[in-house]
Amino acid sequence: MKRKLITSCLAVAVILSCLSGCTPSISPNLRDLNDTSNPIDSLSIKRGINLSLLERENLSIFGSFITKEKTYLDIKEQGFDHIRLPVNFHLYYKNGKLNGSFMKKLDSIINTALNCGLTVVLDFHGWYDINSDVNSNKREFYEIWTLVSEHYKDYSYNLLFEILNEPYEEEGPDPLNAYKLNEIQLEAIKIIRETNPKRIIVAASPEWNTWWGLKDLILPEDDPNIIVDIHTYQPMEFTHQGALWYSPDATVQVRLDDSVFTEINKVIKTCKEYMGKTGRLLWLGEFGMELTLADEGDVSKYLGYVASESEKIGMPWAYWEYNRSFGAYDPSEKEWRPYVLDALMGE
Ligand code: BGC
Repeated sequence: MKRKLITSCLAVAVILSCLSGCTPSISPNLRDLNDTSNPIDSLSIKRGINLSLLERENLSIFGSFITKEKTYLDIKEQGFDHIRLPVNFHLYYKNGKLNGSFMKKLDSIINTALNCGLTVVLDFHGWYDINSDVNSNKREFYEIWTLVSEHYKDYSYNLLFEILNEPYEEEGPDPLNAYKLNEIQLEAIKIIRETNPKRIIVAASPEWNTWWGLKDLILPEDDPNIIVDIHTYQPMEFTHQGALWYSPDATVQVRLDDSVFTEINKVIKTCKEYMGKTGRLLWLGEFGMELTLADEGDVSKYLGYVASESEKIGMPWAYWEYNRSFGAYDPSEKEWRPYVLDALMGE
């Protein structure tokens, strides 16, 4: 029904603008049905940020900022050109359906961000059950992708689909190792392609979206509209210092030293080689650090280095994250943290 409505609106818009003799004006949120080009050829992303609120379970926790246009205009104005929206879709899925009120809210967030000129990466996030038991969960995974793909199939190509965040192999009945990830990821790509033949899909690198997982990643060679998400937080002792969920007893500050740069250099070198060899674009969809304990000067140097080294090899990045404990934006002060934002933007 919704699809029909979108298609009819698009048709009416095109007819009206053609009658008036102007170039057909297409809503920025709908794709041009006559466009035969490959979206990968016009993908223009460089600097992005994760809005991690949607990874929570309870709909009522949405802060009002997430639906406000001014949030996205501000993000854009600071120099970001894309956002990543991590969504725990499995929490909103029941009996073959996605929760209607959740999807309305999500539509409105995506529409607002697209209207503000941001590219949006819709990321299937935080589904931990599938890591230990692929067999019991894959049917649901495919069903969710069938529904999401159908729901957004007429949206502008500035909306990208990211198949699964940080897949990893966890002990259990059917662990999600690289082999299994390839199997379910290739199947999800097929499902998405039934309704979205050309939308850019973001695939996961195995083992937590890591650079070392890239060597095991298999993707369809004849599909140019796929990019790959990798994340880097190594060394964790540095980037996650003060994150109580990671290391509850850690109260001692960990300073930046050469080992941190050596780690980043390794990531960048591997990514450069991968892109050169495969011709596939890599996107650093998550990097960042917990800010509570770290030295501000170290934070700036670290973030500035990761961002600028990525840019040097033509790898777009998205900072983790907007306004929580790694937040570039401080919600209580209602302002951006200059030592984070300026470092990211190379200022
Ligand atoms: C997780 C977050 C976590 C972040 C940094 C993300 O992928 O979903 O919960 O804070 O990584 O560790």
